[in-house]
Amino acid sequence: MRWSVLLTLGFVCNASLANEDSVSGCQTQVLLRDKWRFLHQGRRPYIRIRRKSLIFRNGPIRVRFSCVQNIGNIYLIRKSNYKPGQDAVLCVGFSYVADHPYAEYSAIRLMTEGIGSHIMSPQLFPHGTEVSINTTCDFVGPEERQQYAFIHRATPGCKFPKKLNKSWNFTYLHARRLVIDGNNMTLILLNGRSIVFSCYARDSNYYVVRSSGYPTADKDSYMCVSFVPIRDNPFYSYVFSRLNSGSILDRMLKTIPKGQRVHLHQDCDWMDSPARPEFLYE
Ligand SMILES: *[C@@H]1O[C@H](CO)[C@@H](O)[C@H](O)[C@H]1NC(C)=O
Ligand SMILES: *[C@@H]1O[C@H](CO)[C@@H](O)[C@H](O)[C@H]1NC(C)=O
Ligand SMILES: *[C@@H]1O[C@H](CO)[C@@H](O)[C@H](O)[C@H]1NC(C)=O
Ligand SMILES: *[C@@H]1O[C@H](CO)[C@@H](O)[C@H](O)[C@H]1NC(C)=O
Repeated sequence: MRWSVLLTLGFVCNASLANEDSVSGCQTQVLLRDKWRFLHQGRRPYIRIRRKSLIFRNGPIRVRFSCVQNIGNIYLIRKSNYKPGQDAVLCVGFSYVADHPYAEYSAIRLMTEGIGSHIMSPQLFPHGTEVSINTTCDFVGPEERQQYAFIHRATPGCKFPKKLNKSWNFTYLHARRLVIDGNNMTLILLNGRSIVFSCYARDSNYYVVRSSGYPTADKDSYMCVSFVPIRDNPFYSYVFSRLNSGSILDRMLKTIPKGQRVHLHQDCDWMDSPARPEFLYE
C-alpha cells in the first residue's frame, strides 16, 4: 500500500510539473472542500479545506493557511507571520484513493521535516520569502519518515444553531411559516401543506437541507441555503439565500433519486452567486 501511494503521487507530481497551465489563481479542487480527519488519529487533528484556504487543527495548534499556488492537487500554502518575522509554509498533495475501505484521499507531505511531527506541520521561512511549487516542494522518497496519511470526511454533523430554532415568518410568496425545530426545517405553505426537510450537511454558514420522499416516494429533494443574521433592521432578522438552481417549488428545490448522496461544495451549484434572497422575521 505504501509503495503504491508514493509511486502514484510521484507520477502525478512529475506529470503535473511538466504541465504549467494551471499555475495561477490558487483554488482547491471542489471535491476536497470539506472537513477531514486522519485515519487512526482520533478526533483531534483535522483539516478543513476551503476554496482558497486550508485550516489545520491539532489540539491547541490551529493554523489557517492561504493557498499560494497549486498544480493539480498539489498545494503550496502559507500562513504569513505565523511567528514574528516568520511565515509557515507547507507543500502538500492530495491523491484520490479508490480502493481503501475507509479513506477517500491520502494527504502527502511534499517537503522535508517541519516544526512539529505531524505530516501537516509547516516549515518556517523568513517573512515574505518567495516560494513556489517548483522551488519549495520536494518529493521526499520512501526512505524518509512517514510522508503521507489517509484522510476521510468528518461524519456530517448537521445542526441548526439554537438562534434559528423558532417558528419564522418567511417572505417566500407561498409560505405561511418556516419552522426550525431541532434538526428539522418545515416549510408550511399557504395551502396548508408542509414539507419537512432535515439538516443534511453543513459547512459553517452553508447548509444542505433535504426532504426525503418528496415530491414522490422514489425521490428526494434538497436545497442549499445560508442564513445570515441582519442586525439593526426593524423588519427582518435573517437573510435566507438559496445557493442552488432547482426544478420544483418555484425552482427552489432540486430533485434526486432517493438516497443519493449530496455534496455541499459540488451540488450547490450557485455557491458563488446566491439566488434572489428571501427573509425570515418574527
Ligand atoms: C517549473 O520547472 C520546470 C522545469 O524545471 C520549468 O519548465 C517550468 O517553467 C517551471 N514552472 C514555473 C511556474 O516556474
Ligand atoms: C408573524 O406571523 C405571526 C403568526 O402568523 C403573526 O401574528 C405576526 O404578526 C407576524 N409578524 C409580522 C411582523 O408580520
Ligand atoms: C427548539 O424549539 C422547540 C420548540 O419550538 C423545543 O421543543 C426544542 O427543544 C428546541 N430545540 C433546541 C435544540 O433548542
Ligand atoms: C423531524 O422530522 C422527522 C421526519 O419527519 C420526524 O420523524 C422527527 O420526529 C422530526 N423531529 C422533530 C424534532 O420534529
